[in-house]
Amino acid sequence: MPANVLDGVDAAKLIDGVAIAKQVRAAVAREVEALKARGVTPGLTVVLVGDDPASTVYVRSKEKACIEAGMNGQTIRLPADTPQADLLALIDKLNADPTVHGILVQMPPPKHIDPQAVILRIAAEKDVDGFHPVNVGRIWIGEKSGFAPCTPAGVMVMLESAGCRVQGANAVVLGRSTIVGKPMTSLLVNASATVTVCHSKTKDLAAVTRGADILIAAIGKPEFVKADMVKPGAVVIDVGINRVDDPSQKKGYRIVGDVAFDAVKNVASKISPVPGGVGPMTIAMLLKNTVRAAAQGMK
Ligand code: GUN
Repeated sequence: MPANVLDGVDAAKLIDGVAIAKQVRAAVAREVEALKARGVTPGLTVVLVGDDPASTVYVRSKEKACIEAGMNGQTIRLPADTPQADLLALIDKLNADPTVHGILVQMPPPKHIDPQAVILRIAAEKDVDGFHPVNVGRIWIGEKSGFAPCTPAGVMVMLESAGCRVQGANAVVLGRSTIVGKPMTSLLVNASATVTVCHSKTKDLAAVTRGADILIAAIGKPEFVKADMVKPGAVVIDVGINRVDDPSQKKGYRIVGDVAFDAVKNVASKISPVPGGVGPMTIAMLLKNTVRAAAQGMK
């Protein structure tokens, strides 16, 4: 049995995504009760096209989390060869269904389906993934009615929960993906951080990351961030989920983040682990977005 990555880590240093997600989900469950008392049960419909094993697991956990929070959680499973037109017709139906407050089409879809066409078809008011360009725009201009993608929204809650002062901080976002890096930048700017986005083409990357009071690692490379890339006392949030071969494990692999945790934990003032960091926050934020979609639909 390999040692737990968290063995011997000062608990005060850890940003515990499992515990924070639990608090978010408890708050969501209370909001669900309040909405039910007003005659509305928030409902999320997840659409899965095909039977990709990882997507199947994700979708099942989203449905389970909805049910646990007292919401309606429905999964529609479609065969892998479903024509794009049929998927778009289903989205139209869900857009028009008043019992469905959130719609999530699990990405990536099979190759013959254009993900952007799918995202554009979902009504922005039901786009609890925050992927629709209208929501991207709403988040960028700081409009409260917009939905932020769940992963960066979860990071913001983790920073707050860790007592990290974002206002005026130098935040560095490592990675510029549409799902994490770019929306993370929006949220940090709107919270009055000074934000630098860097990526694989950035010159002297370590010099940039060493300037960070808050470092968000979302570059998708296993244990990429080493101790000498981190300023002493920085707050480090690891968004990475990478599989690395590990013959000592029954599965033959283990999951590591984008941060070399064992070394960086000695430099950072606070750090989120992988697993048990950002991962659990994502579903919690999806539930939160769905409850908000239901509440906004009542106005
Ligand atoms: N596939 C992996 N993560 C996600 C997510 O957050 N939303 C959707 N729609 N698909 C995903």
